[in-house]
Amino acid sequence: MKMEKNGTAEIRVDGKTLTYPVYEGTEGERAIDISKLRKETGLITYDSGFMNTGSCASDITFIDGEKGILRYRGYDVADLAEKCEFIEVAYLLVHGSLPTAVQKDRYSQLLNQHSMIHEDMKDFFSNYPEHSHPMAILSAMAVSLSSFYPELGQDVKEDLDMTVTRLISKLRTIAAFSYKKSIGEPTIYPRHDLKYCENFLNMMFSSPVRKEPINPVMADALNKLLIIHADHEQNCSTSVVRGVGSSGINLYASIAAGICALWGPRHGGANQHVIEMLEEIYREGGDVSKVIERAKNPRSPFRLMGFGHRVYKSYDPRAKIAKELCKKVIAATNTKDPLLDIAQELEERALNDSYFQERNLYPNVDFYTGLTYREMGIPTNMFTVMFAIGRLPGWIAQWLEMNNSETPIARPRQVYTGPNLRKVTPIAKRK
Ligand code: CMC
Repeated sequence: MKMEKNGTAEIRVDGKTLTYPVYEGTEGERAIDISKLRKETGLITYDSGFMNTGSCASDITFIDGEKGILRYRGYDVADLAEKCEFIEVAYLLVHGSLPTAVQKDRYSQLLNQHSMIHEDMKDFFSNYPEHSHPMAILSAMAVSLSSFYPELGQDVKEDLDMTVTRLISKLRTIAAFSYKKSIGEPTIYPRHDLKYCENFLNMMFSSPVRKEPINPVMADALNKLLIIHADHEQNCSTSVVRGVGSSGINLYASIAAGICALWGPRHGGANQHVIEMLEEIYREGGDVSKVIERAKNPRSPFRLMGFGHRVYKSYDPRAKIAKELCKKVIAATNTKDPLLDIAQELEERALNDSYFQERNLYPNVDFYTGLTYREMGIPTNMFTVMFAIGRLPGWIAQWLEMNNSETPIARPRQVYTGPNLRKVTPIAKRK
């Protein structure tokens, strides 16, 4: 859908008034089109962190951060998590509509057909040092797919569809293989008789000598966890995927860059840091006050992990789903995790503290997802990998939208603040 022109905005620069069009999206988001600003005034806009910048128009995901709304292609994320499997949502994001039963079956078969990785790629795993972070392996493997499957299909639709399918299916296999490598166990091949999430759990937890039964509660939880991560409009990693892709490079390389961006502790890496923070509180006796005080201290760079969001200024709708899932999984495993009690206390204390209230800081998606993965037996260093598997269809949909429109290469400007012209002193005379 196109943005509709809805009004104008006047900008007064150096005594001259310039008029720019205002566009409106389908949910009422309004934007001043300043694309002619520099040409007409010589000025650029300054917007560190792009907090006020719309980098594209997109049909894919809608977020209302004030009201805590998240929709993919018009469907509420809670509705999708309740009624769909992850591959239906992946299909929705990539193709624009939910699959029919026939389309879903066909898609599921297609994903299974492409689930293995080239045997030679397995050599890569064996050469990584023992404690390699699985996100490093995942991004390296994602870009390596472009060497093993060179029919990239930027211009041929069938080839591009194949690349998309390969990525969605193989990234999950690569993720499970990287875990097996990290624990020194042989890899388990994907199976054609299993669904997407069941297949992943089997590759993670079975071994050649022991077939681990798949708990349906875990498979359902995994479907829901992947769904709540599936897209989040122009966040850091998605902007990276679009930005890298705008240079004309292939989808595998763009996704590999997105994986690296996601790894950061202020982005997807936060789920790992949440657990590390909760474990530290537990080790030190379970008192949450110290962490709260540290997070509030303006002189400390420490932030309460899993709290706050650039867009959500109310409770993150994904965190609500993750919190309930976490309790469900704990009930199914019949365990008692002291970290859940600490997390709930931390949440309550923060929500009742004026520092967090004044800044609209609420739990984000990462606050409870890590705890849920932990209960499912997924190790801490795999949490961000799980986020990446979930986010993949969103990245792909955003990349396709970028590739299908005539997006110019992403190339922001800057305000230069370095030294003015100076002469090079020959090395012998430098002090
Ligand atoms: N703990 C303590 N203070 C915080 C926190 C936090 N988690 N988050 C923000 N603040 C404070 C910040 O110090 C600032 O205070 P002041 O106005 O006194 O300077 C104020 O709140 C506004 O913060 P901001 O840096 O302008 O917020 P932002 O929109 O740039 O940052 C964020 C968003 C997610 C990077 C940040 O909230 C954060 O670092 N949170 C912890 C890391 C985390 O959980 N990240 C996962 C994000 S959700 C998953 C994803 O989409 O990747």
